[in-house]
Amino acid sequence: MSTQSTCRVCAGAVTEFVDLGTQPLSDAFREPGDTSEEFTYRLAVGSCADCAMVQLMEEVPRERMFHQDYPYLSQGSAVMREHFGALARRFLDTELAGEDPFVVELGCNDGTMLRTVARAGVRHLGVEPSGAVADLAAEAGVRVRKDFFEEPTALSIREQDGPADVVYAANTFCHIPYVGSILRGVVALLKPGGVFVFEDPYLGDIVAQTSFDQIYDEHFFLFSATSVDVMARRHGLELVDVERLPVHGGEVRYTLALPGARARSEAVVALLAEEEARGLHDRAVLDGFGDRIRAIRDDLLDLLRRLRAEGKRVVGYGATAKSATVTNLCGIGPDLVEFISDTTPAKQHRLAPGSRIPVLPPAAFADPYPDYALLFAWNHAEEIMAKETAFREAGGRWIRYVPDVHVV
Ligand code: SAH
Ligand code: TYD
Ligand code: ZN
Repeated sequence: MSTQSTCRVCAGAVTEFVDLGTQPLSDAFREPGDTSEEFTYRLAVGSCADCAMVQLMEEVPRERMFHQDYPYLSQGSAVMREHFGALARRFLDTELAGEDPFVVELGCNDGTMLRTVARAGVRHLGVEPSGAVADLAAEAGVRVRKDFFEEPTALSIREQDGPADVVYAANTFCHIPYVGSILRGVVALLKPGGVFVFEDPYLGDIVAQTSFDQIYDEHFFLFSATSVDVMARRHGLELVDVERLPVHGGEVRYTLALPGARARSEAVVALLAEEEARGLHDRAVLDGFGDRIRAIRDDLLDLLRRLRAEGKRVVGYGATAKSATVTNLCGIGPDLVEFISDTTPAKQHRLAPGSRIPVLPPAAFADPYPDYALLFAWNHAEEIMAKETAFREAGGRWIRYVPDVHVV
């Protein structure tokens, strides 16, 4: 076990600051009868001394995570459907308003963003390696290429379709350790005035709220403006805009352009200054984050054990990838959380990774309501609370663990 690794952005030395233990693949929901050995890896996070990039210490091979049966669906949240619809409309009104525009999306998943572009009759391509979700995008009228995006993919797209006005990636670029190949591909694919726009969970929000469950196999990088700025320059691009987003518990949408093509916005200057002022990348700040994670782990286990002793029923809400980090860090199994309610067909009637907690369709949640619901999908709290008013009226209570353990 090494507490040093090599930075995937600059080859500098990465020093570990938090260890979340042995973990399964966060999206590997198992058939109940499956007795095969579960793949595990060590989930730990470090920071590069040279370029500040925060990243996992160990990399999981991509084919283990993104394959035919990858279960996650972008369309699982009404708020996210609206979020991506609004962004597609904004692209259509701005970057894609010129002559014969073309947009490429990495990790288009079920096509939630691109279906609006497709309906507008604008040239587009989704690049998506996970078979079943790519099929859903195609069924929705989206043009999809079933592939991992990399430099060769980019060159072949450019050859076939010409250069792009926009390359876009939501909750995907942070999943990809091989940044050099991706950014060479992006540079090769963009028109001179084109942009690479990506949005991912923001290190600043993760540290501020102690949302440690944003750390799991698929989230290889935890980006900040500081680290993205350095990464962009190293790879022949410039960070020209940032926008903070409320979705998924706090994200930043970064815009990169070719050098000299666009002026840097005030928002970039301000966010860089804010990160500097709060010492976001300082060792002491990152170590404090680790201390708070341990406190949440202890408090959550204490609460769940107390409720079990009192004979209360506790059910999980949302079989998120994030929940794998929580259950497996804390050692929470079906003895503490009876089952997890989830709307995703490919997760239902399976067992959650590591914890082996059964996942059941939402009908089970109300049949009858439990005493407590542990909100694993806390990033969708508003949407979920709004539709689960009957649970509250029946006397049910929510358990939250971000930013600390509390009952509401
Ligand atoms: N953009 C969607 C999906 C995010 S899940 C959303 O925000 O909801 C991440 C997606 O990235 C998965 O569908 C996965 O298959 C895909 N992915 C992983 N590596 C990729 C790569 N190298 N190129 C393109 N897509 C990739
Ligand atoms: P999400 O938090 O978006 O992502 P991740 O898996 O990356 O942590 O996952 C939300 C999960 O919660 C997804 O499996 C769908 C489920 N869900 C429900 O069961 N009910 C709901 O009302 C919503 C919004 C999500
Ligand atoms: Zn580095």
